[in-house]
Amino acid sequence: MDVQTIAVIGAGTMGRGIAYAAAFGGYKTVLEDISLRVLEQATTWIRQSFEEGVSRGKVEASVRDKALSLVSTSTDIKDAIRDAELIIEAVPEELAMKLELFTILDKFAKTAIFASNTSSLSITEFTGAIGSRDRCIGMHFFNPVPKMKLIELVRTPHTAEETVATCREVARRMGKEVVLVNEAPGFITTRINALIGNEAFNMLEAGIATAEDIDKALKLGLNHPMGPFELVDLVGLDVRLNILEYLHSTLGEKYRPTKLLRQYVKEGRLGRKTGHGVYDYAQQKASNHEGSEKKATEKSG
Ligand code: CAA
Repeated sequence: MDVQTIAVIGAGTMGRGIAYAAAFGGYKTVLEDISLRVLEQATTWIRQSFEEGVSRGKVEASVRDKALSLVSTSTDIKDAIRDAELIIEAVPEELAMKLELFTILDKFAKTAIFASNTSSLSITEFTGAIGSRDRCIGMHFFNPVPKMKLIELVRTPHTAEETVATCREVARRMGKEVVLVNEAPGFITTRINALIGNEAFNMLEAGIATAEDIDKALKLGLNHPMGPFELVDLVGLDVRLNILEYLHSTLGEKYRPTKLLRQYVKEGRLGRKTGHGVYDYAQQKASNHEGSEKKATEKSG
């Protein structure tokens, strides 16, 4: 299938990143969200990401200009998907919400490919009611999308080879590498990452080392770009807990979420988005601020 237009449903962290990648690939891109405010924030973020790409020498100025001219937004789902040959959903990881969305897509988009950015849920399960399940696939992107090179393509038992081939080509034009996964809970990356992250919480809970030292060990000893706690603060502790609960129910005991992770989520320590996860960002900010005030005082004094 020749894709010209991509609709991205949901303009949160992942949706806006996927819209960036779609526009970068030269596709007409329609980003949909029910909130106008979120769409405005997403548009600003996409613009800033292209600016960063240009200043880092990763994106040509002409590519930025063309890409930005290709992006539009909509708060109306029917309007957003009207011309799309590929629809990528990035709505919250709730089965009921995905089920409802795919039912709407099936009603109004009769030939488009439906891709889900779910990081762990069963695509087979929430596309069960769709007429042509051969057009359903997983396209799992990674945060932060402009900087992350991989897309996991997740094939269900019903996905047609043509659907896989079309999405491979889209990924190539987005500048991404792909791996092809036969659907299984957590695919490749989520399954392994959840286990590493959970083990890090187990170690913290048992008092084996501090969060800082566990992070430092994985960064300097194993060359991970971020420590497991830095990463979970970026991804969101609530997101990780949902994933672990799902993997625990599908893959078994070794994915049981730790008590400490549950406790942090209960306390609202959800990561960078709430200013406090494993690390306290408000405190860091305050101490940075104090530091710069101190410096300023020292200078002026
Ligand atoms: N477009 C294209 N490339 C860009 C860009 C842009 N707009 N902006 C920056 N880049 C490039 C940079 O030039 C740089 O390229 P080089 O390595 O060739 O120099 C590269 O992107 C990295 O940029 P930075 O130097 O700013 O980044 P960094 O070195 O500080 O690393 C990081 C930041 C990429 C986030 C790194 O810390 C990392 O990889 N962390 C792990 C992130 C991760 O694991 N994400 C997955 C989370 S799980 C998930 O998302 C799935 C889920 O479903 C929950």
